[in-house]
Amino acid sequence: MDEVLKLKSKLKEINTRARGISDLPVSERAEFGRKINAEREQVLAEIKAVEQVALDTEVSPIDVTAWSGVNEAMPEFYPVTFGSKHPLMTELDRVIDIYQMMGFDVVESRQLDDEFHMFDVLNFPKGHPARDGYDTFRTEEGLIPPAHTSTMQHRVLKEYKKRLDEGGAIAVVVPGRVFRNEDVDATHEHTFYQCEGVYVSKDCTLSQMLGILREFFEKYYEQKLNIKTQPGYFPFTEPSLEFMIEKPKSLGGKKGDFLEMLGCGMIHPNVLKAAGIDPEEYHGFAWGGGIDRLAMLRYGLSDVRLFESGNLNFLREFSL
Ligand code: DAH
Repeated sequence: MDEVLKLKSKLKEINTRARGISDLPVSERAEFGRKINAEREQVLAEIKAVEQVALDTEVSPIDVTAWSGVNEAMPEFYPVTFGSKHPLMTELDRVIDIYQMMGFDVVESRQLDDEFHMFDVLNFPKGHPARDGYDTFRTEEGLIPPAHTSTMQHRVLKEYKKRLDEGGAIAVVVPGRVFRNEDVDATHEHTFYQCEGVYVSKDCTLSQMLGILREFFEKYYEQKLNIKTQPGYFPFTEPSLEFMIEKPKSLGGKKGDFLEMLGCGMIHPNVLKAAGIDPEEYHGFAWGGGIDRLAMLRYGLSDVRLFESGNLNFLREFSL
């Protein structure tokens, strides 16, 4: 291989010289061109010959089936490294595992949705300013890359309604990628991940929801937590709450340092009705919150943009 490298650098040198043709008087250019082309042909033929010998030799110098951590022949040219799972996917798996242990089914969200699922069926009145709050992107065809995983609520309710008819409950979480057309900064990204939860039964209550959420966050952060709620507004829940946890000391928090982790509430009767579920007979609660935010707190990150940046130094910190 050394020989090929030497010949290739000779070729480079010839090519550099060839560029000097423009400095010559026109009358000398033809002769110069012929000579330099002959030199080039000669070196190319030599490279081909050496490579052919290498190919014909019983053991090829390059064994494409062999694995080694580095390419020993040319470590500086071809360092071999391996990718790793994206930290958000690791966290998403962790989140899903906890909910599955609690008995929730998992349904994947979609990356392109429509006005009906994004707003209409979630009880957003037509022309209501709450629609603008979601900073939605729109395709030329008028479709919407979902701005929250709540776009899946109607589908989940319809699909799982049979569980109610069988005397059971609907218990589903929906992880998914969401998109918002807003200015990007350390705490806002145009693309991020959320996880939605939907629960419906004959007799479920808001305090059961708070119990589920507390259990989830305590499992995720592997410690007891102080939780708090404050009133919120979402057209698809009534009442609506913002769910907060006190930032644990072990993660750099101080007493009273409450962070909003998700939005939640009792599912609005109109949302149940739209899926053919009688709100007189059944009640539901739902919640939705960002995965990026969960992970940032867990790892002490202060810039959400790192997740979508493709920055290898950042990603390597999470490789196993
Ligand atoms: N989709 C809301 C958001 O992204 C969060 C949310 C609020 C989800 C209340 C819910 C809910 O399921 O019931 O801002």
